[in-house]
Amino acid sequence: MRKYVIAGNWKMNNTPAEAAALIEEMKPLVADAKCDVVLCVPFVDIAASVEAAKGSNIKIGAENVHFKASGAYTGEISAEMLTACGVEYVVIGHSERRQYFGETDQTVNLRTLAALNAGLKAIVCVGETLEQRELGYTETLLKYQTKMALTNVTEEQLKNVIIAYEPVWAIGTGVTATDDQADEGNGFVRAAVAEMFGEKAAEEITVQYGGSMNAKNAEGLLAKPNVDGGLIGGASLKAEDFSVVVHGVK
Ligand code: PGA
Repeated sequence: MRKYVIAGNWKMNNTPAEAAALIEEMKPLVADAKCDVVLCVPFVDIAASVEAAKGSNIKIGAENVHFKASGAYTGEISAEMLTACGVEYVVIGHSERRQYFGETDQTVNLRTLAALNAGLKAIVCVGETLEQRELGYTETLLKYQTKMALTNVTEEQLKNVIIAYEPVWAIGTGVTATDDQADEGNGFVRAAVAEMFGEKAAEEITVQYGGSMNAKNAEGLLAKPNVDGGLIGGASLKAEDFSVVVHGVK
């Protein structure tokens, strides 16, 4: 059985007090969700978010994790630090990390392994730029990024991996992929998983779509066979909008 997961990605938004207030507002709205509900929050909001989400169906995630267990990495946070704070999920390789912070397919892979080895669930992001799409490289790129991210991941660990297909041109732009583009992109990701781990694993893995997914378009996207949830940026900052997206999973 494939698991549906709707995950918010707050990015660099909300103080701890704002995080707690927003989660309090969301809790009753998403309590009857037919999918797993996750909020990935800034590191400094984790404690307040875990506390606010206690006793509810909302799970807390982080937005990044370092690949080393400890040491001289000023400003970084390890996987063990996250689990010790009650974090269950972590976003890895978001296109903003790739674009602004020098994230590469190799570091995405190392972070994925570190997260999985610590018992976290990894939400690994892949996605093509507009230029790559226009050149016709979408399938090649998505398969390459997926395979690079999953290198040395075991079959058992794969059960804790979610892949989020996020076309870079759709993130924060208000330009959403069409339902069919999302389904196709997610299908390329699933095909890459099949090539690495076999058909059964590919059938079972959760593949999210992300990129301007919101209250208006979520239901259509989520109705597609290859779309098993969403990674939601802007629309996860408003309780009502996020709830509508969550309820797009029927
Ligand atoms: P968006 O962001 O929903 O604001 O486009 C999605 C993401 O970056 O994960």
